Amino acid sequence: MEQLLKMETKIVTIGKNDSSEDVEEKLACAGCVIRRGGLVAFPTETVYGLGGDALNPESSRKIYAAKGRPCDNPLIVHIADIAALEQIVCEIPQTAKKLADAFWPGPLTMIFRRAAIVPHQTTGGLDTVAVRMPGHPLARLFIRKAGGYVAAPSANLSGKPSPTLAKHVVQDMDGRIDMIIDAEGVEIGLESTIVDVTGEIPMILRPGYITQKMLSGVVGAVDMDVTIYDSSSAQAPKAPGMKYRHYAPKGELVIVEGEPQKVVRYINQQAALHEAEGKRTGIIGTEELLPEYHAASVKNAGSKSDSTTIARQLYTFLREFDDEDVSYIYAESFAETFTDYGFGQAVMNRLLKAAGHKVIRV
Ligand code: TXA
Ligand code: MG
Repeated sequence: MEQLLKMETKIVTIGKNDSSEDVEEKLACAGCVIRRGGLVAFPTETVYGLGGDALNPESSRKIYAAKGRPCDNPLIVHIADIAALEQIVCEIPQTAKKLADAFWPGPLTMIFRRAAIVPHQTTGGLDTVAVRMPGHPLARLFIRKAGGYVAAPSANLSGKPSPTLAKHVVQDMDGRIDMIIDAEGVEIGLESTIVDVTGEIPMILRPGYITQKMLSGVVGAVDMDVTIYDSSSAQAPKAPGMKYRHYAPKGELVIVEGEPQKVVRYINQQAALHEAEGKRTGIIGTEELLPEYHAASVKNAGSKSDSTTIARQLYTFLREFDDEDVSYIYAESFAETFTDYGFGQAVMNRLLKAAGHKVIRV
C-alpha cells in the first residue's frame, strides 16, 4: 500500500477539439501502460473504470490493492469486439448472442463460464467471468490499444460512490494508479445492468439502464435476483459485490416516502431540528417540489417522470454532501418508478444501498 501511495498519477485530458491523431496517440500511450502491467482509469458511458490487463494476474492484484477492495469480489472484463468474447468464455449461449446483438456496445454486462485463459485473480476465484463491451467510443479504442481485455471495476475507493467525473477519480485514486483519462461522455451515471446467462433463463444480478423489460423484449423470460427487490431476503446476492454496503455518504441518509406535501413537511421539520442543533442537512428533491425545501444543501434530482437526470447526478450529490460536511440527508423516494421496473429501479437500488435501507413512510 505504501508503495502505491507514492506513485505519480498522470492525468491525460481528451477534449472535443483534439484531432483523431492526438486521440490515437494518447490512447496508445494509455494502452501501453496497461500492457506493461500498470493501471489506467478511463471513462465509460456508465461510470469511470479502473483498468488493468484482465489476463495478467498481477494487474488484477494491483486493482484490488488500489481500490482497497476485498479480493473475493470479481472484476468485469471489458472488450471492444465481439470476436474477443470467444477467447475468454467456454460457450456463448444463444440468449447471450441475442442480447449482445441488441445491447452491445452498451451498458450491459453478461456472466459466462470462464475459459482457462482468464486468471482466478480477475474472477475472484469464480469459474464464471463477467464481460462487457462499453458503448463509449474512447473506452473501446483504449481497450484495443491495451490488448483487447481490460479488467475494470468502478474507479472509486471501495465503499465510495462510483466516479462519474474525472475529479472524483482524482479524489480517490491520485497517487495510487499510473494514469487517469479525463474525457466527457459518462452519461448514464449508474453502473451497467448485470445479467447471468449461464442458466436456462437469464437472471438480472444488478439493475441498470438496460431494464428487465428491454431484456425480455429480446429473449423472453428474464428472472431477477430476489435480493434486488426484497431487502428482507435471507439469501446472499448472486453478484458478490452486491452484498457490500456501497455508496455510503458520511451523513446519515434516509429515504422519505408518501404524499408529496407530507414528504416536504416532514423533511423541512427534520432539517429545521438538525440545523437548530448546528448540524448541516442535505436534501435530494425532485424539481416539482424543490422551491418548497429549506436546508443548507438542496439538490435538484430533476423531474419525477424522468429517472435519467437523478441517475446521472446521484453519485455526484453523495460526494458533494461529504465535501459540504452534511450530517443528515433526506431523499425523496423514487418508488413509483421502482415498481414499474423501469430505469427507476436501478436508481432506487443504489439509493437504498446508500441509505442502508432506511426508509420512512409519512
Ligand atoms: O458499468 C459498469 O459495470 C462499471 C464500468 C467501469 O464498466 N463497472 C463496474 O464494476 O461497476 P464493479 O467491479 O464496480 O462491479 C462489478 C460487479 C460486482 O458487483 C461483482 O461482484 C459483479 O459485478 N461480478 C463480477 N464478476 C462476476 C461473476 N463472475 N459472477 C457474478 N457477479 C460478478
Ligand atoms: Mg463498483
